[in-house]
Amino acid sequence: MITAVLSADRQGIMEAARIIRKGGLAVFPTETVYGLGADAQNEAAVGRIYTVKGRPNDNPLILHISDKSLFYSYTENIPDYFAALSDAFWPGPMTVVAFKKSSVPGWGTAGLPTIAIRMPSLEAARQLIEYAQTPIYAPSANLSGKPSPTTARHVLQDLDGKVDIVLDGGPCIYGLESTVVDITGHIPRILRPGFITADMIYRQLGIYPETENLIDKPKSPGMKYKHYSPKAELVVIIGAPENTAALINERAAKTEKRIGILATSQTIKEYDPNKYLVLNAGDRLSPECIGAGLFAALRAFDEGGVDVIYAEGIAETGVGAAVMNRITKAAGGRVINI
Ligand code: TXA
Ligand code: MG
Repeated sequence: MITAVLSADRQGIMEAARIIRKGGLAVFPTETVYGLGADAQNEAAVGRIYTVKGRPNDNPLILHISDKSLFYSYTENIPDYFAALSDAFWPGPMTVVAFKKSSVPGWGTAGLPTIAIRMPSLEAARQLIEYAQTPIYAPSANLSGKPSPTTARHVLQDLDGKVDIVLDGGPCIYGLESTVVDITGHIPRILRPGFITADMIYRQLGIYPETENLIDKPKSPGMKYKHYSPKAELVVIIGAPENTAALINERAAKTEKRIGILATSQTIKEYDPNKYLVLNAGDRLSPECIGAGLFAALRAFDEGGVDVIYAEGIAETGVGAAVMNRITKAAGGRVINI
């Protein structure tokens, strides 16, 4: 199959919509990461998403909608607080997990009693759904286990020749996947942290962290798989910037392996760019900025052919929680606290 690459303008979006309606696969930009989309009402097309990604069958997909009212045709037993949540954060980088109506077919939901739904804020993504005249199931447009793609080039690294069309909308604004919020209980719980933070959610709903712990142990089926993994072995070092840099330099000097270092603006000067592939993740005090470039950096280390990546940890406050969630998952447990 030849993959067409079109820019995410009106013409490109119309073509992608046509492909979706015909049962094809279309990759499209969103404000978070690129999505691999298929007509949610077409069982065979949704099945192809799994084949193309190499995604385990027990990992459900997110249904993308362009109109809030559609949420209610797929779900039931919606708690009162959903209205406040969706008013505040939809359209935007938040996915809601709710009980699904029994009439909703199970091919995108891995047989669970719940369904994940999101209304993206990126205009091009919503237009695609509108033109296709159907909701779209879309996981991140990477091969299973690889970092999510934040540019069309990343998508093609994984899926060239495997999908019908890629819409190029430039780099994604947020760069981390949506916050997944479970609303099946009396309070919402975060299954996957993202740019909409727990703090933003409980402030919006007037729930206070002292009394109600919103962050649950991740129970999204997808969270149990190895994720976001570059080919190189990733090690996360958490500590004060000067200590972190000292330890990374000490370890890097001891090995013959090719080393990549994910530094921060605060420490970048401590590393020798002639010896190591050093990338600046951004300012430690701006986790939003670090999040936006994180997956691109992991892919850049692979392109640079390094064997081991040392990544500096950052504070888990605000969006820092989502950044550290992705980094520690990519590290597969190799985390050193100093
Ligand atoms: O930002 C995003 O969410 C991107 C863009 C394309 O919208 N999509 C995305 O999809 O990240 P994916 O498939 O890579 O991640 C979806 C996550 C997985 O961890 C999956 O297990 C979880 O959402 N999920 C889906 N349905 C669920 C459900 N019913 N209950 C719990 N978790 C669910
Ligand atoms: Mg994914």
